[in-house]
Amino acid sequence: MSKILVTGGTGYIGSHTCVELLNAGYEIVVIDNFCNSSPKSAARVKKITGKDFKVCECDIRDKDGLKKVFEAEKPDAVIHFAGLKAVGESCVKPLEYYENNIWGTVALLEVMRDCGCKRIVFSSSATVYGSENKVPFVETMPVGTATNPYGTTKIYIENILQDLYKADNEWSIELLRYFNPIGAHPSGQIGENPNGIPNNLMPYIAQVAVGKREMLSVYGNDYPTPDGTGVRDYIHVVDLAVGHIKAVTRALGKTGVDIYNLGTGIGYSVLDIVNTFMEVNKINIPYKIVDRRPGDIAECYANADKAKEELGWVAALNLADMCRDTWNWQKNNPNGYDD
Ligand code: NAD
Ligand code: UFG
Repeated sequence: MSKILVTGGTGYIGSHTCVELLNAGYEIVVIDNFCNSSPKSAARVKKITGKDFKVCECDIRDKDGLKKVFEAEKPDAVIHFAGLKAVGESCVKPLEYYENNIWGTVALLEVMRDCGCKRIVFSSSATVYGSENKVPFVETMPVGTATNPYGTTKIYIENILQDLYKADNEWSIELLRYFNPIGAHPSGQIGENPNGIPNNLMPYIAQVAVGKREMLSVYGNDYPTPDGTGVRDYIHVVDLAVGHIKAVTRALGKTGVDIYNLGTGIGYSVLDIVNTFMEVNKINIPYKIVDRRPGDIAECYANADKAKEELGWVAALNLADMCRDTWNWQKNNPNGYDD
């Protein structure tokens, strides 16, 4: 079976993908610098799957360190999650975001090329559709304009990868545009573990539920949506992880660049999420309506047909599953991976 190197493999989506890779029979090796994760998540992945793998503490910007890992491990393909992802922080520290995400990816690609490993699955984002396109977003739409440096890094990296294939068509590149991943592994052993005040809706709700935050602020109820609150395409992180198995399997068998939306194709509002969370988990979430958050768009959801047709992938889990599994993780791990 092929060996997959997973960058950022101890993070939220990476850890769930490691579980699915191991369950599918792949060998894996993880690299991470732990800037936004805990090595303990890898121990939990080993516990869930009953399988062992190597975790290398390495920064993707460290080409010498990366080269040692590639030479020792000889991976067949890379799934590249490593990156900084906080939209607000990227507006305050744009250089750090460009340096970590873009330069880090270029360093990784150089080492991959030098070591003859030319298959990569990249974590892109629905944010690349910008505010110009109309929902549902389809892969054939032109990439839009990002409203923040984080989003710009995703657009640049997509372009870099496209250019790389144009220059050398031995490469196999899968660009996966995630919509809004939420939820956690049903075991309750791994999940999202934000540092400080959560930026995203579901982690914030989970922290209100567990008593760490008093009240949710709903950012605006005057959008042109059914209840006035923002609409997003929430996808269970386990479904998203399974999408990566399909994509990396495809990458191992062909060359070229593919782009896939990974979403459910269904948009839910902020209040849909709050109400479903309360109903499924029988817990009250106090909230107040506040001003819109700058940079937010009214609606973001996928046309998910292409992933279904070409990868044979569809999201199987629903919003109730996402809310139940988020709470199962949060209530069993109120401090994330910290004891
Ligand atoms: P995460 O922060 O939990 O995981 C990212 C991992 O990368 C962390 O473990 C972090 O320590 C590691 N990392 C960061 N910079 C690194 C570096 N220079 N060298 C080595 N390791 C480094 O985030 P996540 O939610 O799991 O996201 C994974 C990827 O998916 C990211 O690229 C993110 O931008 C992308 N994405 C996430 C979302 C989302 O809503 N979570 C949506 C769209 C795209
Ligand atoms: N929201 C609130 N209160 C909060 C947090 C969020 O009302 O405390 C609302 C937002 O206004 C939005 C919705 O909940 O309407 C979802 O917000 P998130 O921050 O959870 O997610 P976004 O859609 O804004 O951003 C996510 C990822 C980005 C990615 C983007 C597009 O966090 O990395 O999707 O893919 F770029």
